[in-house]
Amino acid sequence: MANPTLLILPGDGIGPEVMDQVKRVIDWFGDKRGLAFDVEEDLVGGAAYDAHGTPLHDDTMKKALKADAVLLGAVGGPKYDNLDFSVKPERGLLRLRKEMDLYSNLRPAQCFDALADFSSLKKDVVAGLDIMIVRELTSGVYFGEPRGIFEEGNERVGINTQRYTEGEIDRVARSAFELARRRNNKVCSMEKANVMESGILWREVVQKVHDEDYPDVELSHMYADNGAMQLVRAPKQFDVILTDNLFGDILSDCAAMLTGSLGMLPSASLGAPNADGRPKALYEPVHGSAPDIAGQGKANPIACVLSFAMALRYSFDQGDEATRLEQAIEKVLADGARTADLMGPEGGTPISTVEMGDAILSALDASL
Ligand code: NAD
Ligand code: IPM
Ligand code: MN
Repeated sequence: MANPTLLILPGDGIGPEVMDQVKRVIDWFGDKRGLAFDVEEDLVGGAAYDAHGTPLHDDTMKKALKADAVLLGAVGGPKYDNLDFSVKPERGLLRLRKEMDLYSNLRPAQCFDALADFSSLKKDVVAGLDIMIVRELTSGVYFGEPRGIFEEGNERVGINTQRYTEGEIDRVARSAFELARRRNNKVCSMEKANVMESGILWREVVQKVHDEDYPDVELSHMYADNGAMQLVRAPKQFDVILTDNLFGDILSDCAAMLTGSLGMLPSASLGAPNADGRPKALYEPVHGSAPDIAGQGKANPIACVLSFAMALRYSFDQGDEATRLEQAIEKVLADGARTADLMGPEGGTPISTVEMGDAILSALDASL
C-alpha cells in the first residue's frame, strides 16, 4: 500500500524553525516505528507571497486538497503588514481552511504537571487541566458578507458580518458532542445569545442536536464573556467548550496561558471524512509567527510537534504512537528542558529550539 501523504507548509517567522523539529520527529517515526510518510513541502503566507505574489498558490491549494494531512507552521509578520488585504499572509491560511472545509478546529489545552508552576495563574487552578476548545472555523464573522471598507457620507465605514446557518452550527456541534463522549462527556457552548441573533440561533441548534442525538452528554450554555472569565477563574469546570470562529480564536489564546505558554498549544482543523474515512485535515500550532523572536533559535517547537501527534491520532489512526510522542514531551519537560518562553519562577538557562528537538528525539529513543 502507498504511504500516506503529508504536505508541509512551514510558512513565516518561527514557522520554519519549529517545523524543522517536526520533520526530525516524522523521520524518527519512519526509521524507528515503520511509519513512513510521503512528505512534500511548499510555501504559504508571506513566503508564498515573496515567491509568487500570492499567499497561497493554486497549485499548493490543489496539493492540500489531495494530501492525507497538511501540517502548517505559522504565517504573517511585520514585513507584510502593509500589503493589500487580499494578499496578506493570513489570507492564505484562511483560504486553506475554507476550501478544505475544515469546520471543526480542535484546540486542546492541557497543563503538563512539570509546568503547573508556570502559568500566570495559581498552581492549584491549573494543575491537571485538560480541556478541549472546539472552534467553528469556516464561517461566522471571518467570512460573512457583506464585508469591506465603504464610503458612507463623508466618512468610511468598516463592515464585517457575523453569519451562521443552521447547518454550519449543527455540524460543528456534532463534532463537539462526539469528542465529549470520548472524554468527560460534558459540553459547554459559548455565544452571546443575549445580544446577537446569530447567538440565539447557535444556542437553539446546539440544544436541538443535543436533545435529538446526544442526550447522554451533559450540555450547558454560557455567554462568551462570562466564559472568558470562568476560563481564568476555574478552568477545570470545563471539558469541551464549543464556540464560534471569533470567540474560539480569543478563548483559545486565553486558554494557552493556563498551560504555561502559547508555545505549548497544538490544534487540529478537521472537515468531513473522505471516502477512506479520513477527515480532511490541517494541523498547526495555535501560536503565530512570533516576529519578536523569529530567527533567534528561541521558539518552543512543542506546539508544532504536538500538532503532529494530533495528526497521528486523528488522520492516521495511530493513537498509541501519538501517546508515545506526547509522553516523550511530558518526560522532556519533567526532566527540566525549557525553551525561553518556559522560564518559570525558578529561572534557569533556556535551551534552543534545536536542543528541544534533540531532547524530544532522545526521549522517543528511550521509549522503545
Ligand atoms: P504570536 O502568536 O505570533 O506571538 C504572541 C507572543 O507569543 C509573542 O511574544 C511570541 O514571541 C510568543 N510566542 C508565540 N509562539 C511561541 C513559541 N512557539 N515559542 C515561544 N514564544 C512564542 O502572535 P502575534 O505576535 O499577535 O502575531 C504575529 C503574526 O502571526 C501576525 O502576523 C499574526 O497574524 C500571525 N498569526 C498567525 C497565526 C497562524 O499562522 N496560525 C496565528 C496567530 C497569529
Ligand atoms: C489563529 C490565528 C488566525 C485566526 C489568523 C492568523 C488568520 O490567529 O489561527 O488562531 O485568526 O484564525
Ligand atoms: Mn489566533
